[in-house]
Amino acid sequence: MNRTPAPPVSPHSVSQASILDTLAVLKDVVLPTLGKGPLIRRRKVVTVAERVGLDAKAVKRMQALRDKYGPGPLRLRIPFRSQAVILSAEDAGMVLEGSPEPFAAASLEKRSALNHFQPDSVLASHGHDRTIRRRLNEDTLDTGCPVHSMADHFAAVIDEEMDRICQAALASGTLDWDSFFIGWYRMVRRLVLGDAARDDSELTDLLEKLRYDANLAFLKRKDRKTREQFLTHLRRYVDAADPNSLAGRMAKACTDPNQQPHHQLPQYLFAFDPGAMATFRTLALLSAHPEVEKEVRHELAEAGNAPAPRLDLVRACYLDALRLWPTTPAILRETTRDVAWAKGQLEAATQILIYTPFHHRDDQTLPQAHRFDPSLWKNGNARADLGLYPFSDGPVVCPAVNFVPMVTSLALRSLLSRVRLNLNQPERVTPGNLPATLDNYTLSFTTERLTS
Ligand code: HEM
Repeated sequence: MNRTPAPPVSPHSVSQASILDTLAVLKDVVLPTLGKGPLIRRRKVVTVAERVGLDAKAVKRMQALRDKYGPGPLRLRIPFRSQAVILSAEDAGMVLEGSPEPFAAASLEKRSALNHFQPDSVLASHGHDRTIRRRLNEDTLDTGCPVHSMADHFAAVIDEEMDRICQAALASGTLDWDSFFIGWYRMVRRLVLGDAARDDSELTDLLEKLRYDANLAFLKRKDRKTREQFLTHLRRYVDAADPNSLAGRMAKACTDPNQQPHHQLPQYLFAFDPGAMATFRTLALLSAHPEVEKEVRHELAEAGNAPAPRLDLVRACYLDALRLWPTTPAILRETTRDVAWAKGQLEAATQILIYTPFHHRDDQTLPQAHRFDPSLWKNGNARADLGLYPFSDGPVVCPAVNFVPMVTSLALRSLLSRVRLNLNQPERVTPGNLPATLDNYTLSFTTERLTS
């Protein structure tokens, strides 16, 4: 750990990292995050990240910064861009609660990335546009409700698609990522756009191409032709909205054309990709923790045939998989004015990074940092007291903060009630050794039919 004394602090500014420490943050934290892909993961990089423990290095780097400079926000020395990182749960909470003013979600870098495929999405919006688009997303996703008002229909769709995945896995004896993901996306297209979109992989392939471009933000020229083709294709589903889909729900909730429904839906399509990653990792955790799997099976048995039960333990397992391997490692904000902190201030237009793997795996503050511990999530989807934010928190919290755990817990129910899944290469995930990065793409399970 680097323990050289911190440079003197100006009374008017928060602590500032040395040039060497700034370079170390870029090397250990920023570049690996960009390398893995912020908008769509690059598989090979994720595989390497697990092998060489990239995320463990990043967490250690952040801990070393806090040891050296203290827990306040830390400004990095980056030319032409004021940039700071958050080093305490308290400051993370303050930033999230103070969003979008004075901590705007639509930072310059984020807008530049999202411009590739959803320029008018809520995530890229500020001011009045953000207010009305946020409302539309919350109304569509029933943000505050653990069980969505259309849950019974969605549960039936989820069960049908998970059943198909199980049948194919039983026939081959294996459940691997690619077959899971193809089946998962059939489900996603039905939930988001309706039954007619089930096999429309052309639409999600177009989005995938644009997401790869978006990984490079302003370094990549906008492919306006593909973007228009994608948005026009998507708009057709919104115009003929299936009432049993989120698009149908959104069309009904839309009160103002500036809410731009077809610009909100790309996020619904792409953000279920991390939803799948975390589901697969939850299955790996359950396979490695048979005592928890037993409790989960007990919860499923108790729920019986209820169409869309809440399944608190399954949700808690999923949330802890997201804590251990956060799918949104970088929560970004940009200050809209000068902001005062306990020690000094950050000026307007400073980009702020909350690097969630650091808070989630900080073994200096969280005793169970590297253990699977669903009990952390008994009372909600965020632990502001501990700095644990798989879905973020505050007014910009993911509006699917309840919808995603609902969908995934129902999907896990459908899978676990049909098959027993045993992780291949079990040494990759053991109670005493949960890697800092878990490459979901190379996970696979042997599959046995459940007889009782
Ligand atoms: C595992 C799955 C998911 C995780 C972990 C997740 C997490 C997050 C996080 C951390 C943010 C950033 C919030 C911030 O900047 O403070 C976010 C934003 C957002 N998420 Fe999710 N999300 C997931 C899936 C979804 C899904 C499936 C949808 C839609 C159906 C969705 C809709 C959104 C929207 C619309 C925003 C932008 C919110 C705003 O700017 O006000 N997310 N999500």
